[in-house]
Amino acid sequence: MSSEDVEYKAFLRRRRSIRRYTQEQITNAELSDLMEIASLAASAMNEQAWYFAVIQNEEIIQAMGELSGLDNPYYGAPTLIAAFARQDAIASVIDTTLAVSNMMNTAVADGLGTCFIYCTKDLFNDPRHAELRSTCGVPDGYECIGSIVVGHPAEEVEEPQDRNQDIYSIIR
Ligand SMILES: Cc1cc2nc3c(=O)[nH]c(=O)nc-3n(C[C@H](O)[C@H](O)[C@H](O)COP(=O)(O)O)c2cc1C
Repeated sequence: MSSEDVEYKAFLRRRRSIRRYTQEQITNAELSDLMEIASLAASAMNEQAWYFAVIQNEEIIQAMGELSGLDNPYYGAPTLIAAFARQDAIASVIDTTLAVSNMMNTAVADGLGTCFIYCTKDLFNDPRHAELRSTCGVPDGYECIGSIVVGHPAEEVEEPQDRNQDIYSIIR
């Protein structure tokens, strides 16, 4: 096993949902890194049927939180990445989920924290919030599947103790 291999698994083991962030914004280089690795994800027939709206405007994130009706759903993170799947593609929800997963794991390698935030889906897919879609430059024909927040962690999260390992059968 190569040392790169060992390191990669260590990143995957370290990824946890982070729900407290510092105010420090992620750099453009870090953002490019997330997007580049996202673009390498597997996709059905290589359709790459995803689109991302990267929201770094504090007022917009705040307004979205209020629209959701939830208490602080974005945890004060400086970056919110909403993920969209192209509706006429073969398996775009899966494509987009894999791309988001790549982003989440890359964030760990870059020393950043993330958390998947589901409620964003309801905001972007609600025709009453069409203005939000246009403000964020979302192309027609894409549905939101959720979002992630990204930033510098302001909390340490312990290793998971609650993972079910009884998740497979082997057929030989
Ligand atoms: C599809 C999906 C939706 C999620 N939605 C939310 C959410 O809206 N808010 C939140 O705080 N965490 C959300 N999470 C994070 C999960 O709660 C978290 O991944 C799970 O408890 C396991 O913890 P870990 O990520 O720290 O390993 C979501 C995760 C997934 C995969």
